Amino acid sequence: MTNMAVCIHQPGGPEVLRWEEYPVSDLQEGDIRVRHTAVGLNFIDTYMRSGAYTVPDLPRPIGLEAAGVVEELGPGVSGLNVGDRVAYASPPPGAYSQARRMPADRVVRVPQSVTDEQAAAIMLKGMTAEYLLRRTFRVEPGMTVLFHAAAGGVGLIACQWLKALGATVIGTVGTEEKAELARAHGCDHPILFDQVDWVEQVKDITNGEGVPVVYDSVGKTTFAKSVQCLAMHGMVVLFGQSSGPTDPVDPAVLAPGSYYLTRPTLMTYTKQREDLEASAAALFDVVGNGQVRIEINQRYALAEAAQAHRDLEGRKTTGSTLLIP
Ligand SMILES: NC(=O)c1ccc[n+]([C@@H]2O[C@H](COP(=O)([O-])OP(=O)(O)OC[C@H]3O[C@@H](n4cnc5c(N)ncnc54)[C@H](OP(=O)(O)O)[C@@H]3O)[C@@H](O)[C@H]2O)c1
Repeated sequence: MTNMAVCIHQPGGPEVLRWEEYPVSDLQEGDIRVRHTAVGLNFIDTYMRSGAYTVPDLPRPIGLEAAGVVEELGPGVSGLNVGDRVAYASPPPGAYSQARRMPADRVVRVPQSVTDEQAAAIMLKGMTAEYLLRRTFRVEPGMTVLFHAAAGGVGLIACQWLKALGATVIGTVGTEEKAELARAHGCDHPILFDQVDWVEQVKDITNGEGVPVVYDSVGKTTFAKSVQCLAMHGMVVLFGQSSGPTDPVDPAVLAPGSYYLTRPTLMTYTKQREDLEASAAALFDVVGNGQVRIEINQRYALAEAAQAHRDLEGRKTTGSTLLIP
């Protein structure tokens, strides 16, 4: 059967995404063949497409997040059956495809209470929220924290999860509509950061103290000011670069409050199988008990991935975005 995929042959703008035939290669030890039902769009896909992050073995499809059905088991695979519903958020890139070969130890079973579309919308963004809020910096009840891009894919999940943890949430957003959306998902203090002195606002909200943690995925345009929002011994969790990579950082910027800086990745926080399973289970729990509602606010045909990239990079999307194969 013909297998179609969105491939890149070389890095570049959204126009390098090509809808073309890409056969599924033979399964090796530990592999499964997954037929995708929904594919998640993530900002990291744009870094891989543009060349900001290197993708090996071109041409190939990009994409790291999807849900689907197990079609075939390779040698040595146990614990999964043909017909199981599974989802993943992991390299190797290749989720932008109708079907693919995938290491079995990188997928998890999707519970009955979660649809394929929901799984594809949350695996990467939701497990990221899980490790950021519970493991990189453990958010405790009563804390006031700053989360940038609060109306985005990771942002809307994080706002709700922070609320469930008992935190007060300050979130930055680009427009009034996004401010309303973030507020409806638990963001107590949405700030339109292109229009106001947001460091000043964070200080006002925290009675001059600052916040114990800033979750910063915007990068270039926010990082220096994020440090200024910290309380004594606070931490900047720099986990993305939607506005571009940060300028080189002089460690001396951390001296005024003996601050901490970390640059974490989901791939390291889910590298061990037990961490992956625990993270996915915690995510399915907060979704299952209604603490986190999933917002799939954009859907595109997989073949239209280039337009999805334009919209994501153009700050036109909110919540999660799906590509439908
Ligand atoms: N390290 C990790 O483990 C990890 C895992 C997942 C995601 N991430 C990172 O988390 C971030 C969010 O990912 P996502 O997929 O959920 O994307 P997203 O937040 O839905 O989209 C990015 C948002 O960033 C904001 N932004 C501010 N300045 C921007 C600019 N100059 N260009 C583009 N966007 C800008 C926009 O919101 P406003 O218009 O409201 O400002 C935009 O909607 C990304 O940086 C991603 O790389 C990191």
